Amino acid sequence: MNDKPEFKRYTVTSALPYANGPIHIGHLAGVYVPADIYVRFLRMNGADVIFIGGSDEHGVPITIKALQQGVSPQDIVDKYHGIIKKSFEDFGISFDIYSRTSNPVHHETASAFFLKMYEAGQFIEKISDQYYDEATGQFLADRYITGTCPHCGSEKAYGDQCEKCGTSLNATDLIEPKSVLSGNKPVLRETRHWFLPLDAYEPWLREWILEGHKDDWKINVYGQCKSWIDQGLQPRAVTRDLDWGVKVPVKGAEGKVLYVWFDAPIGYISATRELTPDWEKYWKDPGSKLVHFIGKDNIVFHCIIFPAMLKAEGTYILPDNVPANEFLNLEGDKISTSRNWAVWLHEYLEAFPGKQDVLRYVLTSAAPETKDNDFTWKDFQTRNNSELVAILGNFINRTMVLTHKYFEGKVPEIAALTDYDNATMEEMRQIPGRIAVSIQGYRFREALAEMMNLARLGNKYLTDNEPWKVFSSDPDRVGTVLNISLQICAQLSIVAEPFLPFSAAKIRKTLNLPLFSWDEAIKLNWLPAGHVLDQPALLFEKIEDPAIQEQVKKLLDTKLANEAAQSKTPMKPGKEAIQFEDFAKMDIRAGTILEAEKVPKTDKLLKLKIDTGLDQRTVVSGIAKFFNPEEIIGKRVCILVNLDPRKLKGIESQGMILMAENPDGTLFFVTTDEGSVNGADIK
Ligand code: MF3
Ligand code: ZN
Repeated sequence: MNDKPEFKRYTVTSALPYANGPIHIGHLAGVYVPADIYVRFLRMNGADVIFIGGSDEHGVPITIKALQQGVSPQDIVDKYHGIIKKSFEDFGISFDIYSRTSNPVHHETASAFFLKMYEAGQFIEKISDQYYDEATGQFLADRYITGTCPHCGSEKAYGDQCEKCGTSLNATDLIEPKSVLSGNKPVLRETRHWFLPLDAYEPWLREWILEGHKDDWKINVYGQCKSWIDQGLQPRAVTRDLDWGVKVPVKGAEGKVLYVWFDAPIGYISATRELTPDWEKYWKDPGSKLVHFIGKDNIVFHCIIFPAMLKAEGTYILPDNVPANEFLNLEGDKISTSRNWAVWLHEYLEAFPGKQDVLRYVLTSAAPETKDNDFTWKDFQTRNNSELVAILGNFINRTMVLTHKYFEGKVPEIAALTDYDNATMEEMRQIPGRIAVSIQGYRFREALAEMMNLARLGNKYLTDNEPWKVFSSDPDRVGTVLNISLQICAQLSIVAEPFLPFSAAKIRKTLNLPLFSWDEAIKLNWLPAGHVLDQPALLFEKIEDPAIQEQVKKLLDTKLANEAAQSKTPMKPGKEAIQFEDFAKMDIRAGTILEAEKVPKTDKLLKLKIDTGLDQRTVVSGIAKFFNPEEIIGKRVCILVNLDPRKLKGIESQGMILMAENPDGTLFFVTTDEGSVNGADIK
C-alpha cells in the first residue's frame, strides 16, 4: 500500500444514522458501502484500522415522533437502533463497533468535552428571546413551531426552515407561529444559551481547508466548505432547551441539553472508548488517519463545526479526508421517508433473500460519487443479469465445471506458456494496484470496474482459448488454460472481497482457499497443481422480469397512494374580492428561461436567467425540488416583472415566475400557447 508513510493507523467513521426510522438504499450507497469497501481493503493490507458506526439517538425529530406515537423517545430509539443495526449486519457492513448515543459512556464523553471547552472560556453566553409554550410550560425547539413562511406564504414552515421555498428562518420570522405541542400561540421568553464562535475559527479554517486540502478533498466537499467560509461564519448555539439529550453540565443550565450536532460527532469518540481501552491513539496520535464517510447534507458539520470543536478542545487530531457523497434518487424521484419513496433494506432482503452482494454491487456501480444518481429496478436487473451473472458468475462457473469434468476437480499443471498466456498474466499483475489506487482515492465505482475487468479478462481468456474443443487433441493445453483460469478465479476471490464479501467467501470455499492479504493479490500462483477443489457453488442467478415488475408495481402503488392522499388534501380557500385596478398593477409577461443553475447550499432554489422581451434578468425561484436545471432551459414561462427586487442567498431576484401549486405542494409552470413571444403582456 502506498499511503503517506506518516500514517500508522486508520480511524474510519460513518455518519451515525438517526434512530427514528429504518435505513434505505440511499444510506447504503452514500455512506456505508463505500466506507465498508475502504475498511475491508485496509484490513486486507494488514493496516491497524477501526471502523466506527452507531445510532444518533438525540435530536428533536425523535422527540416529535415519540410524541406522535404516544411513547417515550427511548422507546423510539430502542426500536430503530435494533432495526438499523440488524440491516447493517445483514449487508456485511463490518463495523468494529456499532454503538449508540444514549449509552452512558457517550453522555460522559460528550459532557466532559463540553465542560473542557466551557472551562477554557471557549463559548459565548447569550441571553435571547425564545418561543415558550405556556400551556405545556416549556421552551419550543425550532421544529416544535410551525407557521406561515414570510417568503412564500407556505403555512407549513418550521421554526428553522421553510421546506417549501428552502429559506432558512428564525422562529421569530414566522407569521402566526403555533406550538406543535398545544396548538397555542407561543410567547417570547428569555433564555440563556452557549454559542461556539465559529467566526473566530475562520482564518484557521481557511488555512486548514481552503489551502491545506485544495488538492485532496473531493471538489463537491471542498466547494461546499469554500462557500460556507466565504459567506462568513456565525456563532452557533450548541445548547437547546429540551429534555432529551446530553444534559448541559454547568450550573444554571437545568432543563438544557447539548445540541444534537454537538453531541453526535463526539459519538465517534465515545464508541471508540467503548471499543478499546487503547482508544486514545486513534484520536490523539497524529499518526492516525481520520476519515469521515458521510452524505452531502452532513458536510458543514464534519468539515467545519466538528473540526472547530476538536481544535478548540485541543487534544484531538483532525480529519484527513471527508469523502462525502451526493444523493441517490429512486426511479427519478428524491428518496423520501414521509412519502415512503424508498427501498428499505429489510424489505429488499425479504424480496431478494441472500442477494446482499447484488445490491452492494449495484449501489457501488451507481454510487452518487460526484453528482446525484438514480437507482432504477431495470438497471438493478441489467447489472445483475449481464454483469454479475453473465461475466463474473459465468466465468467462475465455467472454469470450475471444466476442471471437474477434465481433471476430477484437481488443479492441472501448466505445460507450456503461449504469448497469450503471458499477456494475460501480465494484465493480472496490474489489476490489484489499479484497484488500490482507486480505493485510496475514494473512487469506488472505478475500483469496482477494475475488479470486473479481471472477470472480463478471465471470460475472454477462456472463450478465446476454447479448452472444450481441444481436450481430445491436446490435453496439456487444456490443463494450462484451466490452470490460468483458476488462478484468475483465485485472484478474484481476493480482489472482490472489499466489494462483494459474501460472494468472495463463496469463491474461496469453492477453490478451497483462505483469504489472502492484498499484497498477495499479485502472486499468481495461489493454486498449486494437484490442489483439490470443492464443488462449484451458485454465485449469482438471473433475476427474471416478474420479480422486477413486483418491485416496480410496489413503487407505483406508493405513487398512486401519495396522489390519492394528495387529492384529499383540501384546496386552499378562495381569497377575498379585489378591484380590476389591483390586478392591472401587475405587469406579467411571457418569457423564456435562458439559463438555470442550482443555488449552492440550498436544496430548493434555482437561479434563472429569463428573457422577458424587455430585458434579460435574474430570478431566484424555489422550484429546485421539482425541476432539474438542465430540463427547464428553453421553457416558456410567465413572469411578474414589476415586483420589487429581493435578495435571496445573496442573489438579487428581479421578478417572480408564476407557478401552479397542487394542494400537496407540487409545482407546475404556468405557460402560454405557441405563437406568443417573449414580452407578450399577460392580462
Ligand atoms: N444523524 C445525522 C444524519 O443522519 C448524522 C450524524 S453524523 C454525526 O444526518 F457525526 F453527527 F454523528
Ligand atoms: Zn417559504
